[in-house]
Amino acid sequence: MLYIGVDLGTSAVKLLLMDGEGQIKKIVSKEYPLFFPHPGWSEQKPEDWFEKSMEGIKELTATCNKQEVAGISFGGQMHGLVALDQDDNVIRPAILWNDGRTGEETDYLNQVIGKDKLSEYTANIAFAGFTAPKILWMKKHEPENFDKICKIMLPKDYLAYKLSGSFCTDVSDASGMLLMDVKNRCWSKEMMDICGITEEQLPKLYESYEVVGTLKPEVAEELGLSETVKVIAGAGDNAAAAVGTGTVGDGMCNISLGTSGTIFISSKKFGVDENNALHSFAHADGNYHLMGCMLSAASCNKWWNEEILKTKDFVAEQAGITKLGENNVFYLPYLMGERSPHNNPDARAMFIGMSMDTTREDMTQAVLEGVTFGLRDSLEVARSLGIQIERTKICGGGAKSPLWKRIIANVMNMKVDVIESEEGPALGGAMLAAVGCGEYPDVETIAKKIVKVVDTVEPEPELVAKYEERYQKFRKIYPTVKGLF
Ligand code: XUL
Repeated sequence: MLYIGVDLGTSAVKLLLMDGEGQIKKIVSKEYPLFFPHPGWSEQKPEDWFEKSMEGIKELTATCNKQEVAGISFGGQMHGLVALDQDDNVIRPAILWNDGRTGEETDYLNQVIGKDKLSEYTANIAFAGFTAPKILWMKKHEPENFDKICKIMLPKDYLAYKLSGSFCTDVSDASGMLLMDVKNRCWSKEMMDICGITEEQLPKLYESYEVVGTLKPEVAEELGLSETVKVIAGAGDNAAAAVGTGTVGDGMCNISLGTSGTIFISSKKFGVDENNALHSFAHADGNYHLMGCMLSAASCNKWWNEEILKTKDFVAEQAGITKLGENNVFYLPYLMGERSPHNNPDARAMFIGMSMDTTREDMTQAVLEGVTFGLRDSLEVARSLGIQIERTKICGGGAKSPLWKRIIANVMNMKVDVIESEEGPALGGAMLAAVGCGEYPDVETIAKKIVKVVDTVEPEPELVAKYEERYQKFRKIYPTVKGLF
């Protein structure tokens, strides 16, 4: 049988067709616009996501035997607020995961309601990108829109709803709404009261590998697929990427270098760090995970190359970099503010330490290093909890760079396992579909069967020592400049 995985990203939707053996048959990608209506705001139109996904599914399945397509599932950008009225119309553009408008609401939740209470109700505290502060923002700034809300959902859930008619979400993605009791995998009554919403406005919760419905007849007809194609709940993109890289079960790690950068640690046990600097979320394999998320990762490199250097040839820009561990330039990667661990939507990026002999290569290198140091900040929180991580998988656009992987291995002092396919969330989505359709008994089994490590980048002791010194300097910069933001 064939399975479709949909990675609903921030710059594009990527669709992947996989067979029951885990062979990737085809990949299709469709871009859509991202809107920044005010500095620090970030929005997209859910209608664009659906239109491009439908186009993508048609292209993806154009040459395969359509009768063999058995299931479809998703990895979706997390935290975005999608609100529908009673006629199922989108009320306003979705407010995305990297939108920083909710500073006041986040402070209200963390300081007035209190971090202890939030952590007790949801296992997390408020971050500007999470969904609950956005609901409070809408209530205050757009009361006429708030009053119209009939259904609240996350980005990928809008696709599942349009495809199947099922008003559903999954526990991994719902964890990032600050409305779910993560430990018990159910909605938090207290959080619904705080946000002024009811359970009827929230989707039904499923495990990521559970079937939520089948294609609506009119959708099946338009796609030329059978009405029996199953729609499986899917996961937040990071949990889906973890499935796609085999980061399931206990104590495994995955780094994702996409628009955002995340470090994801899977766990069979529920756990919370005492300062809630890492997110404590449900995992798509039925267990839990801890995650640190930086808002701008590969997007820093894209911005630096495309907007500033005016080139799309990232490989050529990195070719001249030779002074690993010896760069005098630092880069703070906070182009959209920062989530983990600083929780400051007003933080901004900066270069520090240039001199007359600084080169273009030094600046490019500083960008790659700055993002990696930012991820190490989250790793340090995990290490402070006694979590020992010796190796990590890696995925996302940034993972295509051998140089960046080497920097990561040495800054983190970890082995970096390179897997056969770096298609994290899209592959994870297809794998969840295969489990939902019964081709595999559970997520751990399919991950063991399909995910193959093809290379390992080892840390080099001399470089590890040099980077340790650089990192200790890097971590002093943010507290020093914080007052400027
Ligand atoms: C995770 C997060 C991002 C988005 C990116 O908490 O906000 O990784 O999911 O799509």
